[in-house]
Amino acid sequence: MKTIGLAVVAAALFAAPVFAAGENVIIDPPAEGSVSVEDGLSAWARVYEVASHPRCSNCHVGSDNRPMWSGPSYGKTRPHGMNINAGDSRIGVETIQCSTCHSYREGLNDTPHAAPQVAMNWQLAPVEAEWFGKSSVEVCNQLRDPDRNGGRDYLETASHLDHDLILHWAWNPGGGREPAPYDLQSHVNDVLAWGVAGTPCPDDE
Ligand code: HEC
Ligand code: HEC
Repeated sequence: MKTIGLAVVAAALFAAPVFAAGENVIIDPPAEGSVSVEDGLSAWARVYEVASHPRCSNCHVGSDNRPMWSGPSYGKTRPHGMNINAGDSRIGVETIQCSTCHSYREGLNDTPHAAPQVAMNWQLAPVEAEWFGKSSVEVCNQLRDPDRNGGRDYLETASHLDHDLILHWAWNPGGGREPAPYDLQSHVNDVLAWGVAGTPCPDDE
C-alpha cells in the first residue's frame, strides 16, 4: 500500500501542470547585427531590474551562504530567519537542508509567509552569481564572463532560463509576494537582444 501511495504521489507530481520545464518560452534571437549597442544597453537595464529584484537576488547571494529575506512582503531587509545558512553545499547539508521546509506541495505557495516551494531542489545560486546588493555593472560583467557564469554564452543563458522551475515561481510566487518584473518571455527576449548587441555593459568604453 505504502509503495503504491508513493508512486501515485510521484506520478501526480510529474503529471501536474506545474509549468513543464522547457516548454514555456520561445528562443528567437534577433538577427545578428540588428541590435545597436544602445538598444542592447536598454535591454540590459531591464535584465538587471529582474536580476536585482528580491525574487531573484534573495537566493543569488555571496560566500556567507546566507539567503536573504527582502522585498515588500518581508518588511525590512534581513538575512533568512531561524539562522539558516546554506553552507558551502549551498543546500544546507551542513546544518539543515533547504528541502526540509522548501519541498514541493501544490497550493502551498498561496499561503503568505509559508516557505516558497517549487518542484525541484530549492538551493542558493552559485557564489559566482552573487547578485544581492551588486550594481548593474557588476552583475553585467559577471553574466558575460564564461569563467563565472557557468560557461554559457548568451544563447545558452537564455535557453537555460526556461529549464529552471525556480524562475517560473519567481514570476508567479503567490502568497502576497511581489513577482519579478516583466515576464519570463520578455526577460529571455531581453537577454537575447543584449547578447546580439555584443553583451554591452554600462561601463564599457
Ligand atoms: C525551517 C524552515 C526553513 C528552512 C530549513 C529553510 N527555509 Fe527558506 N524560508 C522559510 C520560510 C518560512 C520562508 C518565508 C518567510 C516569509 O515569507 O516570511 C522562507 C523564505 C526563503 C527565501 C525568500 C524567498 C522570497 O524571495 O520570498 C529564500 C531565498 C530562502 N528561504 C532560501 C532558503 C535556503 C537557500 C535554505 C537552505 C539553506 C532555506 N531557505 C531553508 C523556511 C525555511
Ligand atoms: C531558490 C533560489 C533561486 C532563486 C529565487 C533564483 N535563482 Fe537563479 N539560480 C539558482 C541556482 C541554484 C542556480 C544554479 C543552477 C542553475 O544554473 O540552474 C541559479 C542560476 C541562475 C543563472 C545562471 C547564472 C550563472 O551565472 O551561473 C541565471 C541566469 C539565473 N539563475 C537567473 C535567475 C533569475 C532571473 C531569477 C529571478 C527571476 C533567479 N535566478 C532566481 C537559484 C535561484
